[in-house]
Amino acid sequence: MKILVATEKPFSAAAVAQIKQIVEDGGVEFKALEKYTEKQQLLEAVKDVDGVIVRSDIIDAEVLEAAKNLKIVVRAGAGYDNIDLEAATAHKVVVMNTPGQNANAVAELVFGMVLYVIRNHFSGKAGSELLGKKLGLQAFGNVARNVARVAKGFGMEVYAYDPFLAKEQIEAAGAKAVGSLEELYKTCQYVSLHCPATKETIGSINYDLVKNMPKNGVLINTARKEVIDEAGLEKLLEEREDLRYIADVKPNAADEYVAKFGDRVFFTPKKSGAQTGEANANAGVAAARQSVGFLKNGIDKFRVN
Ligand code: 3PG
Repeated sequence: MKILVATEKPFSAAAVAQIKQIVEDGGVEFKALEKYTEKQQLLEAVKDVDGVIVRSDIIDAEVLEAAKNLKIVVRAGAGYDNIDLEAATAHKVVVMNTPGQNANAVAELVFGMVLYVIRNHFSGKAGSELLGKKLGLQAFGNVARNVARVAKGFGMEVYAYDPFLAKEQIEAAGAKAVGSLEELYKTCQYVSLHCPATKETIGSINYDLVKNMPKNGVLINTARKEVIDEAGLEKLLEEREDLRYIADVKPNAADEYVAKFGDRVFFTPKKSGAQTGEANANAGVAAARQSVGFLKNGIDKFRVN
């Protein structure tokens, strides 16, 4: 049996060593394809493997078709919109994620980016502070809960909206629950997105929603670029010079945004939220254990298809 780690954006060397150890201790052969640049390399690499561990790497019908022995794909991370679940199910391939394992890393990046932008890219121009400001969390899963914890350290007031959670669940986890997304955007000067990209959320962060934000609103996206209606947000940023947009997931029109809005926007050059040694190790180790656990003992905890 063989498990492949296929990562266009590699884990740290230490995390890879831990993954290899777990795989080999489980009596499974380890194989790695890192920093690949062509899909063809992935198609070749999956041919003889039973399991694949990936990050945001695209596992579509073509990859699944090429992987004749494949039984399991583990997305070492939270969002699995990069994996064609229907095709995986059709190929009798189990898909899992590793929820929560990289959540703190993403949450810390939120504040790194926010401070950079509200201090005017460290240009020396007077900026602003987070103390006493209202932060709204759109969706209240693992990342949002870590963001809430850090936000309280900054003295922020934390609000959340999550269509899958009752008010009591949100409040028990330490945020003030609001009754609708509109209310969240109306209430909070800062809104941080933590929803997955699904058919309900894709394109849903649009002009009509974001226009509700109070003066000097800051929208932060460490989720997925697809949830933003880029044209709508661009129109709003043109109309409201007080608004800012920060993303760890560059919009398609990033160059245009930067040309038009300058310091009011910031995008990481490469998606960086989960890119810490700690998060790599946490997610990688979990993915390795889950892969071996499934191949050897049929354990399918965290299965998503
Ligand atoms: C996730 O869904 O876990 C994050 O977006 C991290 O993605 P990455 O592993 O590609 O950095």
